[in-house]
Amino acid sequence: MNNKLIIAFLCFSLFGYSQKKASKKAVAIKPKAEFVADLMAKMTIDEKIGQLNLPTSGDITTGAANSSNVAKNIEEGKVGGLFNIKSAQKIREVQKVAVEKSRLKIPLLFGMDVIHGYETTFPIPLGLSCTWDMNLIERSAQIAAQEASADGINWTFSPMVDISRDPRWGRVSEGSGEDAYLGSQIAKAMVNGYQQDDLSKNNSILSCVKHFALYGASEAGRDYNTVDMSRIKMYNEYFPPYKAAVDAGAGSVMASFNEIDGIPATGNKWLMTDVLRKEWGFKGFVVTDYTGIPEMMAHGMGDLQTVSALALNAGIEMDMVGEGFLTTLKKSLAENKVTVEQIDNAVRLILNAKYDLGLFQDPYKYCDVKRAKTEVFTTSNRLEARNIAAQSLVLLKNEKQLLPLKKSGTIAVIGPLADAKENMAGTWSVATNMDKSISLIAGIKEVAANANVLYAKGSNLDYDAAFEEKATMFGKTLHRDDRTKEALLAEALKIASQSDVIVAALGESAEMSGESSSRTNIEIPQAQKDLLQELLKTGKPVVLVLFTGRPLVLVQENETVPAILNTWFAGSEAGTAIADVLFGNENPSGKLTTTFPRSVGQVPIYYSHKNTGRPLGNKEGNFEKFKSNYIDERNEPLYPFGFGLSYTTFSYSNLKISSEKMNFNDKINVSVDVTNTGNYDGKEVVQLYLRDVVGSVTRPVKELKGFQKIALKKGEKQTVTFEISVEDLKFYNSDLEFVAETGQFEAFIGGSSDTENKVGFELNK
Ligand code: BGC
Repeated sequence: MNNKLIIAFLCFSLFGYSQKKASKKAVAIKPKAEFVADLMAKMTIDEKIGQLNLPTSGDITTGAANSSNVAKNIEEGKVGGLFNIKSAQKIREVQKVAVEKSRLKIPLLFGMDVIHGYETTFPIPLGLSCTWDMNLIERSAQIAAQEASADGINWTFSPMVDISRDPRWGRVSEGSGEDAYLGSQIAKAMVNGYQQDDLSKNNSILSCVKHFALYGASEAGRDYNTVDMSRIKMYNEYFPPYKAAVDAGAGSVMASFNEIDGIPATGNKWLMTDVLRKEWGFKGFVVTDYTGIPEMMAHGMGDLQTVSALALNAGIEMDMVGEGFLTTLKKSLAENKVTVEQIDNAVRLILNAKYDLGLFQDPYKYCDVKRAKTEVFTTSNRLEARNIAAQSLVLLKNEKQLLPLKKSGTIAVIGPLADAKENMAGTWSVATNMDKSISLIAGIKEVAANANVLYAKGSNLDYDAAFEEKATMFGKTLHRDDRTKEALLAEALKIASQSDVIVAALGESAEMSGESSSRTNIEIPQAQKDLLQELLKTGKPVVLVLFTGRPLVLVQENETVPAILNTWFAGSEAGTAIADVLFGNENPSGKLTTTFPRSVGQVPIYYSHKNTGRPLGNKEGNFEKFKSNYIDERNEPLYPFGFGLSYTTFSYSNLKISSEKMNFNDKINVSVDVTNTGNYDGKEVVQLYLRDVVGSVTRPVKELKGFQKIALKKGEKQTVTFEISVEDLKFYNSDLEFVAETGQFEAFIGGSSDTENKVGFELNK
């Protein structure tokens, strides 16, 4: 059955159930442990296994499989939750079947990929991370929870905290970049935003940290591919954000698709039980990713019964779409391949979550149709989204202060992303209101209302129509233009010749990144590169407004275009937010959270690399034989982690340290004076990096350990101070002990990871 049929079937099966009754009043019930134990005592083994089953409604699918018989299974108590069904009304009807038709009336969880906002959509997570503003990020998650909970959802499959250093992987767009420290702060902010430390409220929702673990390290950047990594690297560089989310109280965890140490994460007991439960003390439940259990058959781990037992034994509680638990666990129990204690334990954790959400007291708690009408996509949420979006843009180049633009004269807006409202929300925005997103052209017309704004498409996304089709799925069309490339160019050059400035809206479409959108060529598609060069030939000033879900190789653009503003996919208010920055209502303050390579051949490339035994001896990037470098490319990236310009300039001076020696109980301060030396008020992300000069294992050349985003008026100076304690100096050694080692350290403070501004200190016993 296809998606639409399933929904029709669900609605049809539910027809006749009244929608009129108001929410039942919340009822007082026994304390959790007692309540859940009483309930479990009444459950048959089939009903228990049913709680571990998570089908999809079919509204949105990401794999080959779809769930079948959903309505009937709910009635029979064979479903624990349902996901990707949208609207309070529909969810209410389905919940009604669970609590009125199933024998034990156990309410369902309703999940959704609420990844960067609900209908009010915020920038893609990679963009959001570039704000470096934890309050804004938490606020975005809180608004997402407010809207989703008003529309029936009580569980989000977010945050996605996979560290990735490979821009070929399409899902870099869904995470917070390459750095474990920053990723951990963001993981915590997101969990707090969704759960608000109190799941019993009707506007907080259960969060699910994903994809546990290491999904972002898939070989060659190809989605779902093998991961092979040393444990010391896992612990130091990839695990911290998952752990931070667990420490922040994330109620659920999603297993990743990839293998780890040769065993798929979904069946990996070391990962799910030893690390997650025993080391980190995780108390919630673990759900597989979409068909994660049956996919273990293709991984070569056995038949459905074998892999389902493997998953339960590993520590998985809920089976997303796979129906491996539903169809084989009873048999495995009879054959002693799993135990009833394991099944009971899984059921208990899922029922605990339902209890915490208040669903046993009021199963319709999140299905208030009135709230859905008044709290979703509101004017005030959209205003906040516009502000957050503006903070996520990263100014990569601004020669001769071409930006900000004047709100007058004639502006030619050219490119396939200029009039592309369907693409503004970016990937993984299933609840977004695509039709109401603000395109760049609409945003410019609103913000620069007195300017004469001309528009031409200039080119399609690329020359290849088949490629465009793959890159514009899920309704995110770019309205491919059938005219020849010459005709499209002629139209663009004509309006260019009438204009004072050209704004070129180019880059990736929304679905060129995201799940199953890996690329081997990470440049702007050729048709648009060609268009850009033609626009430059006109001699008019050109601003490149770049859309992308990943770091791109922009060497040619960096050499030839005077101004480049990277806007990612900034969400439902993208157009106005970008225009706010272009015309100086907002001064850009975003900083990159991923390295932009000079060539795809440098990948993986990241600032916190090791030194090697043969580091290059010169900073200019000149080739040196028998040193660690390339004969055809420099080692440095095009734009480093932490980089981002402003319309103003900042200078760093007077780097000081309170003491050059510290012992394990001390704290020392490193401070620097930051001055706004330019002509605009602005914000700067001041970054602290540490280097452990000598260790029992090799250590990165630099690691982010602190940051502060400060606002400085034109001419203003502020002293920014970071406190360093022994906790900041700890790392996992080769025995996987989290330790600090005595010896020399260096502290760097600057506005980007390539700062050389440093002081040394020593840690003693
Ligand atoms: C993705 C997950 C997502 C799930 C449910 C999968 O394909 O990997 O990130 O949460 O689908 O939609």
